[in-house]
Amino acid sequence: MPTALITGAAGGIGRSICEVFLREGYKVIGVDCRETAGLPYELIKYDISTLGRADASCDEFFSKVGTLAGGRLDSLVNNAAVQIIKPAGDISRADWEITLNTNLLAPFWLTQRFLPLLKAAKGSVVNIASIHASLTKKEFTLYSTSKGALVSLTRALALDLAPDIRVNAVLPAATDTEMLRDGFKGDPEGFRQLGEYHPLGRIAQTEEIARVALFLAGPQSSFMTGNVINVDGGIGGCLHDPGRN
Ligand SMILES: NC(=O)c1ccc[n+]([C@@H]2O[C@H](COP(=O)([O-])OP(=O)(O)OC[C@H]3O[C@@H](n4cnc5c(N)ncnc54)[C@H](O)[C@@H]3O)[C@@H](O)[C@H]2O)c1
Repeated sequence: MPTALITGAAGGIGRSICEVFLREGYKVIGVDCRETAGLPYELIKYDISTLGRADASCDEFFSKVGTLAGGRLDSLVNNAAVQIIKPAGDISRADWEITLNTNLLAPFWLTQRFLPLLKAAKGSVVNIASIHASLTKKEFTLYSTSKGALVSLTRALALDLAPDIRVNAVLPAATDTEMLRDGFKGDPEGFRQLGEYHPLGRIAQTEEIARVALFLAGPQSSFMTGNVINVDGGIGGCLHDPGRN
């Protein structure tokens, strides 16, 4: 049975990724910093932003995953992220640390630590980046910088880890989750317009992102590495020209 380690497994897109992988016959090991009962897969409660400390709790976490994985990891899906939206003038050192540790460095530390298990399975790493890696908005400096760097990390690791391990990224646009709705708190009209603005007339459902992650993780994408797939309902091709959309 193939095994997948999926971070952010209690969140909107993460849950869908876990469910889609489960349906495909994977053994799913989920990780999240929030505890959530009743999920149909193993969920380890752990804050991945601390992985760079390389202390005893990291070792305990790595060995727990290693034991559950049982000697091979077919897929690592780096999906957990934080999104802090602030004007550049208000960004603190702590904001940078939490953002880069979670969105960029945790994917690296997880990949590095599990190299032997990924290699044993001729496995695949899937990084969930964002449309903000290439197109962004005001007050998204922290998030868009972290996601742009995650795409660069994807390309660089794809070369370093070839030919044994493939590394690819998914760039979702607006997807209906808590993270997205939090960004539109108090602005229901903005949320409605967001859907309308996509050429497909709506935002994505979480499973539409999860299915692309599954494709990149498995044998159907066997000749892809260092590649980036936009899953954006066409919005990435839109020139915003006020008055004429
Ligand atoms: N929702 C969108 O519109 C959208 C668009 C583009 C990209 N994305 C990306 O998709 C991924 C999933 O986002 P989502 O919308 O499902 O968000 P979400 O907030 O619903 O889920 C994110 C999950 O990650 C977990 N998490 C955050 N920090 C963590 C940490 N330090 N350790 C362990 N777990 C941690 C959270 O607890 C949460 O369960 C993220 O990488 C996000 O950047 C989302």
